[in-house]
Amino acid sequence: MQQFEMRGADTLTQMPKLGRGVGRAHGKAILFGEHAVVYGAPAIAFPVNVLPVTVNATLTPAASTIESELYTGPLERAPRRLAPVVAAIRTALNMFAPKSGAKIAIYSDIPYERGLGSSAAVASAIVEAVAHAAGQDPNATELFDLTQVGERVAHGNPSGMDAHAVQSTQIFRYRKPNVEPIRVGGAFYFVIADTGVPGATREAVAGVAQRKAADPRVDAAIGELARVAEESVADFEDGDLAAIGAKMNRAHGLLRAIGVSSPELDHLVDTARRAGAMGAKLTGGGIGGCILALAPTLPEAERIAGVLRGAGAKGAWATWLEPID
Ligand code: MEV
Repeated sequence: MQQFEMRGADTLTQMPKLGRGVGRAHGKAILFGEHAVVYGAPAIAFPVNVLPVTVNATLTPAASTIESELYTGPLERAPRRLAPVVAAIRTALNMFAPKSGAKIAIYSDIPYERGLGSSAAVASAIVEAVAHAAGQDPNATELFDLTQVGERVAHGNPSGMDAHAVQSTQIFRYRKPNVEPIRVGGAFYFVIADTGVPGATREAVAGVAQRKAADPRVDAAIGELARVAEESVADFEDGDLAAIGAKMNRAHGLLRAIGVSSPELDHLVDTARRAGAMGAKLTGGGIGGCILALAPTLPEAERIAGVLRGAGAKGAWATWLEPID
């Protein structure tokens, strides 16, 4: 695990005994370049503000505790599934309040393990909440670096895109380690739909690495995913919905070719297209998790979300990108 300089002892002596802080983050969706980004290719992601996370942290002299939908109890006894959360709490305390424990309450609307950035958003909100409880304000680099500690526990070899996306206020192009906001020339309306099957990012990333080493066609498909991501930037600038929709369809075919789709994902992608989506693809690590579909208007996005729920999606949300200069 990465080591951080201990900070905050001076602040601790001045602050009230029971410091309280709030941290916030939100879900993310990857439009283009998932998996390829792990190999240094560009990827495009955007914030999903309709799926927020809030964390309340209260510093305490006693041992740390967690309160969440998945588990409530002492940090020490948290189940393995919460290892990234535990890592984020320990790292944040080490950095900002090394002599304290913390009561951490997590409120998340992001479905877990569905490729929507739940692990990064929860880690990021924890870091911010603990820092605020210690009377400090983490800068963007600290927030990113500390979120990545939890992400490494969750995913093994994270590109860093999720850790940026869960705090970002706008769509961006990410090419390790650079983040560039993208200009958006018109409104884009999306539907996110959940297969209900947990995604397996760590296994998906490891499987792609194996197939890439063994099969040159997988390497070529990753190169093509990178090209699609790069060329989409101009389509966003032009507000060209049809071009983005066509690229989403192309990306889904390539993600299938590298072995990260599933029958449930393909079913929701086909359903969205038949219901009138201008394009649809899996989003995130794949295997399970969610799809992303493009709709021409917000009412159409809401209607397609309803069709997807009727076809078995466990959840479906409409979200959008405003034009940005
Ligand atoms: C996971 O949300 C996206 C992947 O590209 C992995 C990563 O970027 O770390 C599959």
